[in-house]
Amino acid sequence: MSPAPGITIDGPARRVSLDVRNPDFFRNPLPAYGALHAQCPAFFWEEPQQWYFAGYDQVNALLRDRRFGRQILHVATREDLGLSEPKPHLKDFDALEEYSLLELEPPAHTRLRTLVNRAFVSRQIEQLRPDIETLSHAIIDGFKKDGEVELLKAYAETIPVTIIARMLGIPVEAAPRLLDWSHRMVKMYVFNPSVETELDANQASTEFAAYLKDIIAEKRVSPADDLLTHMIRSEKDGERLSEAELISTTVLLLNAGHEATVHQIGNAVSTILKSGFSPDQLFASEEATARTVEECLRFAAPLHIFQRYALSDIELEDGISLRKGDKIGLMLGAANVDPRKFTAPDTFRPDRDEGANVSFGAGLHFCIGAPLARLELNLSLPILFRRLSGLRLKDEPPVKDSFHFHGLERLDLVW
Ligand code: HEM
Repeated sequence: MSPAPGITIDGPARRVSLDVRNPDFFRNPLPAYGALHAQCPAFFWEEPQQWYFAGYDQVNALLRDRRFGRQILHVATREDLGLSEPKPHLKDFDALEEYSLLELEPPAHTRLRTLVNRAFVSRQIEQLRPDIETLSHAIIDGFKKDGEVELLKAYAETIPVTIIARMLGIPVEAAPRLLDWSHRMVKMYVFNPSVETELDANQASTEFAAYLKDIIAEKRVSPADDLLTHMIRSEKDGERLSEAELISTTVLLLNAGHEATVHQIGNAVSTILKSGFSPDQLFASEEATARTVEECLRFAAPLHIFQRYALSDIELEDGISLRKGDKIGLMLGAANVDPRKFTAPDTFRPDRDEGANVSFGAGLHFCIGAPLARLELNLSLPILFRRLSGLRLKDEPPVKDSFHFHGLERLDLVW
């Protein structure tokens, strides 16, 4: 038995039993990660019945390893792999995934990524600085006199969704609907979603796609200076994006463009308030702010697991044999607290200088939105702490029961 709550580890056999719905685990996974690092950083997880990897070097290498992919159906059929047929009640959800950058492999991935990449490079993103600053101040102006706020709804959610909607050229008034569709869709990315979750995610996909179809039709008639118009007009090797690709890509950008950042703003604020460090010190300069943001990303990452398929039969160095089509899990949140990489990994140390965290992934699918997310964090956090002096937690913030998306249910603050 291991001392970490919620986890049973058989180190020599590299077998682990862990229920991700166990509150002792999802509220704070760091003790379980510590036990895994000590006993078996590569292990067979009994509940999902597949291999998982928690070590920093191994996660970092596997993310870049071209023998693995996010997709498998470009190199094998469902029949070859004994996979069940797609579920008819997930038709509209699957249609959005089919052309999602995140679910494609080269050459289809390269073509799509090249088309959207230009809008997301740091130089382009830097131009959003005044917009993000003005928006952060305006939101705080709205609630400052109240002396208290639930930060996730009021601030953490509004900034990323507004910015990504503006970038794409989607009316900002649609934000509540975008958030609702997105929340219903991301519930699919947990172990074994229920049929109700599937039906609801499919319904959200139907509505989201229909909404974007209308917007795309409008942009074709009245082009504007926005990313959606740019994607409609973009050509690569004489080819344009199809309607289905445009819709998939826009949904992914809107969903990925806020889901993780919302939680990261919440996780960062909570981490900072519990750390005992003074905000004046943490945000003393742009460099200090950047270091604080990176340490928050390492210590309290919002996305803890991504999966890959073995694209062929593979023997890993440590004797793990995988068959073509097997899935593996890469534990970004655990890799970030590997004691072989970071000293005293369970401690928040904003002056740390020990190399990059893997919160944005690595390799081919490295987060295209990382420069945008970093800019939003580097601006919205210091503005919040400077404007609200004496900021503190009202209560212990409840952690969401969704291990893959490590975030808070709500974050009540007073000042
Ligand atoms: C703190 C905030 C964020 C975190 C922690 C995060 C994390 C990640 C990670 C780990 C991946 C790689 C997944 C994999 O390898 O399987 C990824 C991919 C992606 N992210 Fe982010 N993300 C964040 C914000 C954003 C934002 C603001 C956007 C906005 C557009 C975005 C768009 C994307 C897209 C499109 C991909 C797929 C890239 C590809 O497959 O080529 N993300 N993100």
